[in-house]
Amino acid sequence: MTALSTLESDRRAALDAAESAGRLDEAFLTRFDAQFPRLHGLFTRLYGERADGSEQLAATVAAASVSWNARPLDLKVRDGQRAADPDWFQSERMLGGVCYVDRYAGNLAGIRDQIPYFRELGLTYLHLMPLFDAPEGDNDGGYAVSSYRRVNPALGTMAELTELAAELRLAGISLVVDFIFNHTSNEHEWAQKAVAGDPDFADFYLIFPDRELPDAYERTTREIFPDDHRGSFVQLDDGRWIWSTFYHYQWDLNYANPAVFRAMAGEMLFLANKGVEVLRMDAVAFIWKQLGTACESLPESHLLLQAFNAVLAMAAPGMVFKSEAIVHPDEVVSFISPEECQLSYNPLQMALTWEALATRDGRLLQQALDRRHALPAGTAWVNYVRSHDDIGWTFADEDAAEFGIDGYHHRQFLNRFYTGRFEDTFARGVAFQENPVTGDARVTGTTASLAGIEAQDAGGEDRVVLAHALALSTGGIPLLYLGDEVAQLNDYSYADDPVRRGDTRWVHRGNRPRDRYAERDDLSTPAGRVFRRLTKLISVRQSAPEFAGNELIPFHTPYPSVVGYQRVGPARALSERSETKRPRLLVLANVGDAEVQLDPLTFSGFEHTAFDPIGDTDLDLSDGLTLPPHRFVWLRVAPV
Ligand code: GLC
Ligand code: GLC
Repeated sequence: MTALSTLESDRRAALDAAESAGRLDEAFLTRFDAQFPRLHGLFTRLYGERADGSEQLAATVAAASVSWNARPLDLKVRDGQRAADPDWFQSERMLGGVCYVDRYAGNLAGIRDQIPYFRELGLTYLHLMPLFDAPEGDNDGGYAVSSYRRVNPALGTMAELTELAAELRLAGISLVVDFIFNHTSNEHEWAQKAVAGDPDFADFYLIFPDRELPDAYERTTREIFPDDHRGSFVQLDDGRWIWSTFYHYQWDLNYANPAVFRAMAGEMLFLANKGVEVLRMDAVAFIWKQLGTACESLPESHLLLQAFNAVLAMAAPGMVFKSEAIVHPDEVVSFISPEECQLSYNPLQMALTWEALATRDGRLLQQALDRRHALPAGTAWVNYVRSHDDIGWTFADEDAAEFGIDGYHHRQFLNRFYTGRFEDTFARGVAFQENPVTGDARVTGTTASLAGIEAQDAGGEDRVVLAHALALSTGGIPLLYLGDEVAQLNDYSYADDPVRRGDTRWVHRGNRPRDRYAERDDLSTPAGRVFRRLTKLISVRQSAPEFAGNELIPFHTPYPSVVGYQRVGPARALSERSETKRPRLLVLANVGDAEVQLDPLTFSGFEHTAFDPIGDTDLDLSDGLTLPPHRFVWLRVAPV
């Protein structure tokens, strides 16, 4: 075994390993030269103390070289296109969709049959929920992976997935799949070998003979799925304890062992060559553990992601990472950079959209847009209204305190409001993982059920459209949970299913709602009206270059229920017009229940004539503007 040493000698060792594993390609070498110093630096910080650091690094590089040699030509062509247009995901044409393969379409062949519909909708990105081999029965919706190289046989085969990726690419849609690298299922080969005492796998997981260290760790860790088990560990049949952040059958990997990094990098490279274009990096906050800390978002978790990023940059340079960090907003942004994750869910905007609809007060959302929206160049948000997961109220207490709001009590209120325990609520949500000790809980429910359509509240449809109008106009990639565009309602049948009963997130993961899709052109139905309004918004967004990129200029009005911002698109050649005079889209949204009358002075910075691309009409701002309850405008305005 050899420990890490100087850059030059480890570089030599890596090249030797790559050469004995196969041919060294010119293009690979160029990228190796660019990436290796960075990867070596990261390895030194992560694994400088380890006796096997150098050889695991060399083995990782060798795997990257072999993977590049095997990379199909069409994917190399795609890599070239991405290199020529690195901001591809910033385009106003981007629109994401997400669904479960089985629930939405039965299997991979069924997904393929939906491609014409995806094109009709305008999708350019499709996230298929975890589709890998997983334990029978309960498997956290596929987030317990038993093999990253095998598609769950109920859904199809790896060959079908590869073909689907190619067909989607031809249709202009990038395939997104999960990279569930924090943990594996307890049935994964590595897990079985670790428990059986195989010396090569003994350190792949965090296994302890007694409660001493688990107790010490649990003094500072958070409980993620307290309904399933208390604390962060579960007991093995032989009495030992294993780290398990999520469900008891999901065992956390031990990234302090460089062999784990090397092994997972191998699984990542395997997926890269199947035609996946974006990897959704699951549970990034949890991947590094250190005694005495919360074991979330530790500095090493960033180093690990950057190391995975460097490996990908050598072997599949067109691919990007999307971070899934549903944590404090400062931590969420810490994962976003071109060297780490280029994309990230925007859980703050998502949660505050719902917060604003409940309180009829847009100030926390406005504050987040003002201060927490900006991102480094070359990165983007994925903006969504809801996901397959619960809504957690991840706003920062210190932000709320500025408005005299107490974070703890506000979260309690929001949970009561969205789970129907608050009198006068329009929402029909269900609580998820209520923690009796801390009083914490999160909320589940489809967009339509949470927004009031299920309760037949008069504002329900407007709120569904308003929430999407925000996600579609704040930049980056808007992501639609497929089914929400036809106002899919909660599905309570999970409560009768022994496998799903224990996880209330299934309430918003119903099967593709055929009846509602059948009504999508019928304007006498909620499905038809919501579909008509949302598809209109999508087509307007896709033809408005101002919506590209991430830049957002706040626009304040005196009304707490009004959220406002301007979108100017990517900076254009300065010669075109001076920066401050760039034409722009002004977005104004009223989250309140009362009509708001904006006076002409509000618009004094703009020419009088504005254009409404949704209604396809001109508007005279010298009369001011009326915003009905739960309504919004997108206006093309020209600064004076
Ligand atoms: C992510 C997934 C969630 C899953 C968890 C454990 O947070 O989004 O659905 O339960 O990871 O894998
Ligand atoms: C926790 C985790 C998040 C995960 C969620 C699943 O909130 O922080 O990563 O998505 O649980 O419910």
